[in-house]
Amino acid sequence: MAKKPLGPSTSLFPMPALLVAVKTAPQSANVMTVAWAGIVSGDPPRMALEIGRNHYSTPFIESEGSFTVNVPRSDMAVPVDYCGLVSGSHDPDKPATCRWTLLPSTRIASPLIAECPLNFECRIERKVEAGAGYFYLVEILETHADEAILDGEGKIDAGRLDPLIFTPDGWYYRLGERVEQAFSAGKALRRA
Ligand SMILES: Cc1cc2nc3c(=O)[nH]c(=O)nc-3n(C[C@H](O)[C@H](O)[C@H](O)COP(=O)(O)O)c2cc1C
Repeated sequence: MAKKPLGPSTSLFPMPALLVAVKTAPQSANVMTVAWAGIVSGDPPRMALEIGRNHYSTPFIESEGSFTVNVPRSDMAVPVDYCGLVSGSHDPDKPATCRWTLLPSTRIASPLIAECPLNFECRIERKVEAGAGYFYLVEILETHADEAILDGEGKIDAGRLDPLIFTPDGWYYRLGERVEQAFSAGKALRRA
């Protein structure tokens, strides 16, 4: 089949739909939606995120030097989209609008979103100027998981987590079926 060149693009499918929460005052926090993010190293665990410099969140992220990354369930698409459409400069209490409960983190000042079954406490390790935004390399200091998403061995089960997924064609999805087991299925092609 012929290939059509599309030029430089951000068309990587799928992407995570994440909620970055940052403390804005002693008892309040702002939440923004982030999809340009991912795990980039394992030891120590690190994530990289691109965050626009003109967002309401950005000066708070800069002054705190840390934030939480919260993984929403697939049934949370409406409030997740809201946090990506409406700035904290127009709604300074997005968590209340979304009817979310904020829980204290253990290592940083920014809170966790209770309704998200998986949460990461992140500290900024490095920042790169990246056009209209900053590319933050963050260390994951702590991971919080609802017990309901853990399997019998205490590991996070993707099916129970049921994360919301974003695709760059502008849709939210949920996970589909398991296809094969990773680090295992490929053994079928190993030469003896
Ligand atoms: C699905 C989705 C993904 C988004 N991903 C990002 C992202 O990766 N980085 C970013 O800076 N903004 C992203 N945005 C836009 C911000 O979430 C949006 O501008 C938000 O209103 C910023 O909030 P704030 O001004 O309260 O900080 C995304 C929005 C949506 C709907």
